Amino acid sequence: MDIKGKVIIITGASSGIGEATALKLSNEGAKVVLTARRKEKLEELKKKIEGQGGEALIVTGDVTKKSDYEELVKKTLEEFKTIDALINNAGLMPLSFVEKLKTDEWEKMVDVNIKGVLNGVAAVLPTMIKNKSGNIINISSSAAHKYFPGGAVYCATKSAVKMFSEGLRQELAPKYGINVTSIEPGAVSTELTNTITDEDIKEMFKDMQKMTFLEAEDIAEAIYYTLVQPARANINDVFIMPTQQQQ
Ligand SMILES: NC(=O)c1ccc[n+]([C@@H]2O[C@H](COP(=O)([O-])OP(=O)(O)OC[C@H]3O[C@@H](n4cnc5c(N)ncnc54)[C@H](OP(=O)(O)O)[C@@H]3O)[C@@H](O)[C@H]2O)c1
Repeated sequence: MDIKGKVIIITGASSGIGEATALKLSNEGAKVVLTARRKEKLEELKKKIEGQGGEALIVTGDVTKKSDYEELVKKTLEEFKTIDALINNAGLMPLSFVEKLKTDEWEKMVDVNIKGVLNGVAAVLPTMIKNKSGNIINISSSAAHKYFPGGAVYCATKSAVKMFSEGLRQELAPKYGINVTSIEPGAVSTELTNTITDEDIKEMFKDMQKMTFLEAEDIAEAIYYTLVQPARANINDVFIMPTQQQQ
């Protein structure tokens, strides 16, 4: 399938995987809708996309707010008339050991990583059901497969995303032709670890830095691969690890 002219919403487009994906998909001819909270970062990205001959719309918002999603969908339909794909990518990972009881951080992860994905799906589904086509790509993680120290809550949120994706696929793909994919990367070099406040975890991560991480562009390629399959082929999961990452 050609993605030229397809309208694709990317959440968490202001950095990392979302930013790289927006660049990749617009280079391949998609019309990208960029959303996140940091407006300046989105504006820089839009400028870059337009400089390369692409088309981008910015709608700032918080994925935890249903009203922001309603606005996102409204503005996308006003500008581009339809929605072909949603990439539910916004997420955060303030890892900590459970005994530290950083309950505010637990709640934030549940709100953004799980509820944010649910809000996104709810907002785009009426259009995709009407079209009887679409792609929903949820960014889960290798953390959905395996617990790692400090990741009890994060791993739980990413497992939820993986299982929700499978439920969505079973309910929507055969009936409405909406393909659903869970992307599960191992360690990718992005800003994701910036939200960690637990000093023990920060120490642990220093050791990890010796490994060669995946780049955000590697995940953008996996997302592109998923989108260019013929409508009859649903890529259920893409589990992608850095060569040097053991667990
Ligand atoms: N990096 C990895 O090793 C790795 C591995 C597996 C899976 N992942 C997943 O990949 C996704 C992207 O992460 P990344 O690695 O690219 O990290 P990142 O560079 O920190 O990107 C996270 C994005 O999420 C957005 N975001 C956070 N909270 C938000 C909210 N409440 N509303 C709207 N947007 C919000 C951020 O934008 P604003 O701050 O501007 O709102 C940012 O654009 C996440 O779901 C992450 O869990 C990452």
